[in-house]
Amino acid sequence: MQPEPERAGALALARAQTDELFTIVRGDSLYERPIPERHRIIFYLGHLEAFDWNLIARDTLGRGSFHPAFDQLFAFGIDPDSSGLPQDGPGDWPAVEEVLAYNREVRARLEPLLPQAPAERIHVALEHRLMHAETFAYMLHQLPYGRKRAPEGTAPAASGPPPAARMQEIPAGTAVLGRRREEGFGWDNEFEAHAVEVPAFAIGKHKVTNGDYLEFVRAGAAAPHFWRERPGGWVYAGMFQEIPLPLDWPVYVTEREAEAYARWKGKSLPTEPQFHRAAYVGPPEAGGNFDFRHWDPVPVSGAAENRYGVTQMVGNGWEWTSTVFHPFPGFQPFAFYPGYSANFFDGEHYVLKGGSARTAACLLRASFRNWFRPWYPYVYATFRLVEN
Ligand code: AVJ
Repeated sequence: MQPEPERAGALALARAQTDELFTIVRGDSLYERPIPERHRIIFYLGHLEAFDWNLIARDTLGRGSFHPAFDQLFAFGIDPDSSGLPQDGPGDWPAVEEVLAYNREVRARLEPLLPQAPAERIHVALEHRLMHAETFAYMLHQLPYGRKRAPEGTAPAASGPPPAARMQEIPAGTAVLGRRREEGFGWDNEFEAHAVEVPAFAIGKHKVTNGDYLEFVRAGAAAPHFWRERPGGWVYAGMFQEIPLPLDWPVYVTEREAEAYARWKGKSLPTEPQFHRAAYVGPPEAGGNFDFRHWDPVPVSGAAENRYGVTQMVGNGWEWTSTVFHPFPGFQPFAFYPGYSANFFDGEHYVLKGGSARTAACLLRASFRNWFRPWYPYVYATFRLVEN
């Protein structure tokens, strides 16, 4: 079996990315739980390595465990539901040093095994880690500023007045959803590829901005989760600092808020096929706000227009669709990870498309589908309007 340097290289890069994220958390804060519905930070420190170990060494290559208790403790995250918040205390978790020792051991033992694992499993490990690089950023976003250390170069982008809202026409046509096997790795929910006919519609040229949404708040709507009211006015709570509400940045909202705003404007949210029609007509904007370049959004103004005159469909915030997360025709769960998608086909999750500032470049492919509960307020989720 040939060693595959590019795969090992990609995994090493992703590890460096997630290792660096943990350095943002001050040493005394690794047992905090910034999002009440999720695990404490310490879980994620062990989770990424336990996942790789369980997937590649244990389940794929049949290697015996060197630490069954940690393999199990760190195996799965939480999908928050209404059955109550997790009740564990910091003392229920092992010491940081023990977790770090486990992590080092996993990496050392996986090293010689990686070339023996099928490419698909390596992709799963890699993209799983990169997805956590984003969901971990959501979590750190909720950690009080005094508990984190800002890395270099985290100054927020400038902001200016919001552009006037405008709609662009998208002609009737075919959207191709999903991925063909020969196109390469995809998660189970990306298959099978299929065509959907989409009637003509109009879509917002820009994502809905904080400035747009401020009108709705002034008309009585609740403020989004990322806003705070201070004596000087509204601010946006950024990753490392609060800044006066940037009116030309996209607004982060829940699906419920996005839907309510759309209704207020007499419009709707795009369906998943409509998003495809408007978005995937060329490569993502060069220099767009994705792949860890920024921590927060950038203005919607001045961005490159695609063939339909629409901007930032990929990057600068995931976009809610009105489509409930369901399998595509021909869906088959991964035998080695049956719950990855299938556990969420419960009618309680909505599809998001595009990508955020903290989405890795490899996850920007047209077929990639993200999903969250409609009331979940912590994700980097934006939206735009559609007129049918
Ligand atoms: C695809 C981002 C919704 O974080 O819940 C990570 C990805 N699944 N570990 C999530 C995931 C298992 C998933 N999302």
